[in-house]
Amino acid sequence: MSHLPISPSATPTATNSPDASLSSTSPVSNDVGRATWGSRLGFVLAAAGSAVGLGAVWKFPYVVGQHGGGAFLVVYLGCVLTLGVALLLAEMTIGRLTGKSATTAMRELGGRGWAWVGRIATFNAFAILSFYVVVGGWTVAYLLRALKGSVLAPDTSRLEAEFVAFIADPWASLANMGAFLGLAALIVAAGVQKGIERAGKWLMPALFLLMLAVIVRALTLPGAMEGVIWFLKPDFSMISGKTLLEALGLAFFSLSLGAGMIVVYGSYLPKDAKLAGSAVWVATLATLACFLAGLMILPAVFAFGVAPNAGPGLTFITMPAIFAQMPFGHLVAVAFFLLLLFAALTSAVSLFEPVTAFLIDEYQWRRGPAVIAVLLATFALGAPAALSFGIWSDVKLFGRTIFDLMDFVTIHMLMPAGGLCVAILVGARVWPQARTVLEGTRAQWFLPVWRLLLLVLTPLAILGIWYQSF
Ligand code: TRP
Repeated sequence: MSHLPISPSATPTATNSPDASLSSTSPVSNDVGRATWGSRLGFVLAAAGSAVGLGAVWKFPYVVGQHGGGAFLVVYLGCVLTLGVALLLAEMTIGRLTGKSATTAMRELGGRGWAWVGRIATFNAFAILSFYVVVGGWTVAYLLRALKGSVLAPDTSRLEAEFVAFIADPWASLANMGAFLGLAALIVAAGVQKGIERAGKWLMPALFLLMLAVIVRALTLPGAMEGVIWFLKPDFSMISGKTLLEALGLAFFSLSLGAGMIVVYGSYLPKDAKLAGSAVWVATLATLACFLAGLMILPAVFAFGVAPNAGPGLTFITMPAIFAQMPFGHLVAVAFFLLLLFAALTSAVSLFEPVTAFLIDEYQWRRGPAVIAVLLATFALGAPAALSFGIWSDVKLFGRTIFDLMDFVTIHMLMPAGGLCVAILVGARVWPQARTVLEGTRAQWFLPVWRLLLLVLTPLAILGIWYQSF
């Protein structure tokens, strides 16, 4: 129970009576003392809080921008609806069957060799966290600027120059990254997650609403329609092996898959929770966030004449320009970056937590030292990633900067590899147990489809896409 991710101080004395699992969203413990989510809503919100983050608002728009718009969107949606839902459900099942975090759970279900899958997944979470905090730091910086009132500018070429200069500044980027990482560590250490879970109920909808408001403005900019069409109308000639790999990776990333995270969250589910519905909900919210972010940013990209393939700065370059054209733009800017920071933090916490839990579960560390160790190690690995936008931009391995290499290895290789292992474990090795999670529910019809997705489509898609793109 020491590593309950977005939830908190559960009391071991509470029961697992059915109404405890329906009536409130605060976790209670089941009879083995393992905390459980109080309700499906609590679980869905926590998992969605992990999923919705910088992946949607920062990564999705620029990756769509680099890969030709509508066609990419179609492939991305295809991946989410098939592999995405099947693997979300599979990871939840592993957690639910064992009640353990990834490494321990994999060992329990598959034997000693499978523990390695869990360890690699945990390492993956750590590596993702290390570059996630770099971008988290950018969010901190833009929030501070918005508070100072110095972020808005109508001129995107100036905004772009500012962004490039800002991410190249070594001390500033390390300081911002450190601030973001520190916040995440505080949340994990203090166990104030209860606040986060409760706040998530309001702040995530608030982020969605604010995005809708910004979308209204973005869509009414002159020239925006061109961007809308580009985003929504597929041009399948744009699809290459690279595009497929990018879409697959983004689907995993935006659903927080392939790093053992959903396993940990699933391990807190009450025994009577409806897994299939939860998986569909998480996938829907995460995809909706990506879609809204695309609608918010890509039309503006066209309206302001920014190159769609401008890369990781796209969100940070276009958003201030939209705010400059909105009534109360300064306020909107502050609210937006605050909500984005919050969304990024809930995601970062969900990456931080499994790594901490790993040290606690596997090596019996105490929580305090474990948090400090993860904090320091993340800073150490994050620093070169941050510097690779500035003074270390020439340091390249396999033709990529350090940041790009970390992004590539984790999202394009380790996450799909983790997904593949999960699919085989659940679809083949422990299928007789796994199938029981849907038995007796309305989602029972999904069992054969699910198995087909796990054993046929997932391996084919992942291996095929790897083959195409390497
Ligand atoms: N899904 C988050 C985002 O889109 C990132 C994230 C959080 C993640 N936890 C994860 C990705 C676990 C992979 C695995 O911002």
